[in-house]
Amino acid sequence: MKLNVDAVRACYPALADGYAYLDGAAGTQVPAAVIDAISAVQAAGLGNAGGAFPASARSDAITADCRAAVAALVGGVAGGIVLGPNMTTLTYRMAGAIARDWSPGDEVVVSRLDHDANVRPWVQAAERAGAIVRWAEVDVATGELPVAQYESLIGERTRLVAVTAASNVIGTRPDVPAITALAHGAGALTYVDGVHATPHVPVDVRALGADFYATSAYKWSGPHIGAVIADPALLDSLHPDKLVPSSDEVPHRFELGTLPFASLAGVTAAVTHLASLAAEDDGAPLRARLLASMTAVERHEQETFGVLIAGLDSMPRVQTYGRAASRTATAYFTVAGRTPQEVAEHLASRKINVWNGHNYAWELTGVLGIRDSGSAVRAGLVHYNDAAEVDRLLSAVGELAS
Ligand SMILES: Cc1ncc(COP(=O)(O)O)c(C=O)c1O
Repeated sequence: MKLNVDAVRACYPALADGYAYLDGAAGTQVPAAVIDAISAVQAAGLGNAGGAFPASARSDAITADCRAAVAALVGGVAGGIVLGPNMTTLTYRMAGAIARDWSPGDEVVVSRLDHDANVRPWVQAAERAGAIVRWAEVDVATGELPVAQYESLIGERTRLVAVTAASNVIGTRPDVPAITALAHGAGALTYVDGVHATPHVPVDVRALGADFYATSAYKWSGPHIGAVIADPALLDSLHPDKLVPSSDEVPHRFELGTLPFASLAGVTAAVTHLASLAAEDDGAPLRARLLASMTAVERHEQETFGVLIAGLDSMPRVQTYGRAASRTATAYFTVAGRTPQEVAEHLASRKINVWNGHNYAWELTGVLGIRDSGSAVRAGLVHYNDAAEVDRLLSAVGELAS
């Protein structure tokens, strides 16, 4: 089924303000269904978890539903969904637990394509353990992360390979299954950053070979909640710092303090919304509807992005970054003679929201040689962006670039 973008847009109250929200890579808007779900559970009364009274039981059910929904979105199991405030916090937490038994001479592989949240927690954990950090390099001309280099980067001392499923600035989607297969061949764990990929493509954590997969609901129409998806048995082998009285069960073991139940209800509503984007609720399992919808989302984004990137590339004063064969609908560009900040301000004056700067793609903007000059401008598409918004972006950039 094709995405009906007008119908999708009508679900999002915020889109009525006249701005083109091309800032989805930094956080999407939420549909009314998410807003309603959050306020409905608040209105009904919530208690803390594990109590004997109905309001507490409602909170427990909300948490269970949220785990099931996130599992359906990425192809995991509900018992392996760790919930927390965001991907960065969860990744530091997982790194602390995973690196506990690393020894001097052990190795960890990170990439220069990744957002810093899937780099620094591993680099710092390695430093504490005396482990060696090996870097996978980006092909600057194409923005690809060549797989072949992993054959020499990964060895018998490799404990973990951290890699992104998609770059949050140039959109590159590396061949994660090939990279994780090499890691597993050496007995290493894999930690895949799915924050940027999840809103754009159907995700199957098993097919990716992700021992850990991290995602953030606020990038796919949900509230500000992060999740790490793993096999419950793998989680059970890890022992994060925790309070004595808090549950040692998996996945609770990894969750500090009280969960934000109302937001979790919003996450479930966001997953339900994604499932409805291009699939009727015809009784098919949630996972099947999600796969159908996300396939349609990917097609819509790629079609619209084709126009966006061709338009930018046709402007002589515009330089775009990244030409990967497989990429999300995320453009990263500079305009000659204008700082990225000036470009973003000009676009804001035309009611177009974009980000400027390194966007925490710290290593990548360093190797691209643009980090110290304000990096670039990012304009990304998600399912609710349409061709008219792309036209507006192109004419507004054209005002500066002609
Ligand atoms: C690819 C990627 N990884 C990690 C993060 C960090 O996510 P969070 O804000 O949930 O910590 C982001 C946020 O922009 C991202 O785009």
